[in-house]
Order: sequence, then structure tokens, then C-alpha cells
Amino acid sequence: MNTKKKELKVSAIANGTVIDHIPQGHVSKVMNILNLENFEDQIYFGANLDSKKYGKKGIIKVSNRYFKDSEINKIAIVAPTATMIEIKDYEVIKKTSVKIPDEVIGIVKCFNPKCVTNHENVITRFTIIDKENLKVKCHYCEKITKKEHIEFL
Ligand code: CTP
Ligand code: ZN
Repeated sequence: MNTKKKELKVSAIANGTVIDHIPQGHVSKVMNILNLENFEDQIYFGANLDSKKYGKKGIIKVSNRYFKDSEINKIAIVAPTATMIEIKDYEVIKKTSVKIPDEVIGIVKCFNPKCVTNHENVITRFTIIDKENLKVKCHYCEKITKKEHIEFL
């Protein structure tokens, strides 16, 4: 191990995935979206860690688990700055930035109080119509929710 690894604030992992640069306050949302509550192997997470780029950040380290791009991209709505890092034998083998997907199912709440998804047991579904400024359009009521009004379920 080199000195850098000895300096890690959250333990290094041998094999698995590190989800780094999670915006402050969004660690548990990312855990939910990736369904990590029921995961049986080791998971480390840290919040309020210092980051040069973002001031404060969160991080999640999942041992012995790798994610598909489609799973990774689901977290982009809550953690657009996140980086997914794959670790094998303690070494970083791959780093990818998350990408906002075309559609988001069951993560965001519809801004329209009259929408069926706010009254009945219907899973929300949106098309992302603006990835840069994050605007989503409800599949059911067609109302557009802007970034500043996005609430997570
Ligand atoms: N990491 C880990 N276990 C390892 C190797 C790395 O948990 N065996 C984690 C580090 O804690 C770090 C991330 O993986 O959060 C990326 O590692 P590395 O590329 O070495 O770190 P930095 O160069 O600091 O990455 P960046 O500048 O992108 O934050
Ligand atoms: Zn709606």
C-alpha cells in the first residue's frame, strides 16, 4: 500500500464500487435508489467529508458489487456530480461519471398536486426534457417540473 491509501478517511476496499462526490445530504437517497438497504456484504459510507471540488461531499463504498450503467444512471438525478469507481485488488480500474438518463421511474415526485401519482398508488414516471437544467415532464399529467421544484420520494 502506498502512503495515499493509508491516508484514506474511509477505509480502502479490496474489491467493489466506490460512489464518490455525492452532493452533501444525498448519501441516503443514493443508498435507497441503489437498493443498498438489503445488501448483505460490507458497505461503508461517509458524509460531510471535505472535498476540494465541492466543499463537502458524501461517499459510499460497496464491497464485492459492481453496477450496470442503467443502475448507475438512476442516481444522476440526486447526485449529478457523482463518480463511480471500480476497485479490483485495491486498485482503481475504472472511473465513470454518472449520466442523466432519458427517463426516471419512481424517484421524483410530481409537482402537480392534482396528478394521479399524488393521489393513487401509481409509480411516478418522467421524461427528462432538459438534461442541462434538469426539467422533467410527467408521463401522466404532462406537467413539467423544474430543477428548483424537484422533490424526491
Ligand atoms: N478508493 C477506495 N479503495 C481503494 C482505492 C480507492 O475506497 N482500494 C477510493 C478512494 O477513497 C477515493 C476513490 O476511491 O475516494 C478514488 O480513488 P483515487 O482515484 O485514488 O482518489 P483521488 O485521486 O483522490 O480521486 P478524485 O481526485 O477523483 O477524488
Ligand atoms: Zn404528474
